[in-house]
Amino acid sequence: MKKILITGGAGYIASHTNLELLKGDFELVLIDNFCNSCAESIKRIEELSGRTVKFHQINLMDTQALDAVFTLEPDIDSVIHFAALKAVGESVEIPLAYYTNNITGSLNLYQAMKNHGVRKIVFSSSATVYGDPVTIPVTENAPVQATNPYGQTKAMMEQILIDTAHAENWDIAILRYFNPVGAHESGRIGEDPSYPNNLLPFVSQVAAGIREKVVIFGDDWDTPDGTGVRDYIHVVDLAKAHVKSIEKLASSKGVHIYNIGTGRGYSVLEMVKAFEDACGHSIAYQVGPRRSGDIAEVTGDTNKAEAELGWTAELGLKHMVDSAWKWQSMNPNGYKKISTS
Ligand code: UD1
Repeated sequence: MKKILITGGAGYIASHTNLELLKGDFELVLIDNFCNSCAESIKRIEELSGRTVKFHQINLMDTQALDAVFTLEPDIDSVIHFAALKAVGESVEIPLAYYTNNITGSLNLYQAMKNHGVRKIVFSSSATVYGDPVTIPVTENAPVQATNPYGQTKAMMEQILIDTAHAENWDIAILRYFNPVGAHESGRIGEDPSYPNNLLPFVSQVAAGIREKVVIFGDDWDTPDGTGVRDYIHVVDLAKAHVKSIEKLASSKGVHIYNIGTGRGYSVLEMVKAFEDACGHSIAYQVGPRRSGDIAEVTGDTNKAEAELGWTAELGLKHMVDSAWKWQSMNPNGYKKISTS
């Protein structure tokens, strides 16, 4: 059984990835500092999978604690690195915190891996590294030109990893996610943001009556209905891409970079309408000004992931909004309140 270390192991994308890994021949060691997650998700992962996972509450800034985990778990095969601060607006306000946490945290992780001879890693990157791409669907060889501190940290974390892979003979997979949405079909695992910065969690909270209305950030973009278009990807499909990547690194050397999306874009209005169908009532919205730093449209070319990982997104828009609504309905306060099922 292969042992995988998961950083940020209690978070939104990690929790879904953990469930997919636990269906297979993998043993999981999770680390998290709970700065944007909580222990309840780990408890539910264990309940849903019927398996136990190991967990260490540590911060990646704490090199001694990190080293101790690798010493305690000498047979780690590979790492999946999710842990990072991820709010774009906040990263503009407190860039030093973002650079320190994301870059130094990653450096500490990579150094601990080197110290303990672990040479395989799947890195959680983002389509944000493409900035405002000239051509869409964007391919992996498009220029990296992030436009905000959060995106810059992802681009730098990628580059540090690529340089290390070349120097140290590491085998790495960099996954550039488009817009992850949705939740596990059980309704017990999902996204639990302290404040919803992204579209779907916000729409979901308006649908639940927690917030009054959605503000659409501009309807004068150069898109079919004037609202922004994004490539939304179901988090369970995204989770499966991590399993495929771990499998890939077992036999394939070097650096691999993949877009993980559907290749299909939906507008803000299409997402709101789809969510109305999911929740069965109308969702109040109004059109506001454009959000600073936004772009009109981005979708990903996912042919490389399909050809090399044998991975392709399977869950469409209906699954995305239905599962997001199920999670919201069953957990009106996120993980703070025990689910009703
Ligand atoms: C954002 C981040 C990106 C990150 C991604 C993770 C920015 C500029 N980019 O991408 O770095 O990797 O989340 O999922 O924040 N919208 C509204 N009203 C809202 C919220 C969003 O109209 O209340 C619109 C946006 O203008 C955009 C679309 O919905 O057209 C999606 O927005 P969002 O979910 O925030 O994702 P991105 O901006 O694509």
